[in-house]
Amino acid sequence: MKERKIEISLKVYAYEELSQADRLLVDKAKEMTFHSYAPYSHFSVGAAALLVNGEIIGGSNQENAAYPSGICAERTTLFYANSQYPDVAVDTLAIAARNERGEYVEQPVSPCGACRQVMLESQSRGDRPMRILLYGSKCTYEVNRVEDLLPLCFTANDME
Ligand code: THU
Repeated sequence: MKERKIEISLKVYAYEELSQADRLLVDKAKEMTFHSYAPYSHFSVGAAALLVNGEIIGGSNQENAAYPSGICAERTTLFYANSQYPDVAVDTLAIAARNERGEYVEQPVSPCGACRQVMLESQSRGDRPMRILLYGSKCTYEVNRVEDLLPLCFTANDME
């Protein structure tokens, strides 16, 4: 038996430490939480994707009475970005969330597994690393590539 350790890397920022461009993107994700449709979970998530052409695309979670028919903010945003601009890579995706009391969550938002997988596909379509900013009112995490959120990930190569 051998043990292997997989390293992931992330940076932790206070909001004030973020670059102006990153603050702008995080602010857009925060703003998008107000467009969320979350009458069931009361958890309002917003995301903002900065494309390499400079365009910023926003999205939010959209729930449904048939619960599994709803979709997370990250997937709303990436699918929309990739639909509108199929050949334009996503440079950075920022995510923010508010709880049922309407407060921004203190700890950085943690995207669900399905969204991480979709981020990975979006990144490989763009053929460059996608940076991700996970906002929390206490601190924001930055990862420089999706693999840091999804170690041992399944990719198209695994089917060869
Ligand atoms: N949700 C997101 O939109 N993104 C996440 O990163 C976590 C969860 C949504 C799905 C559902 O509408 C609600 O938050 C509660 O799970």
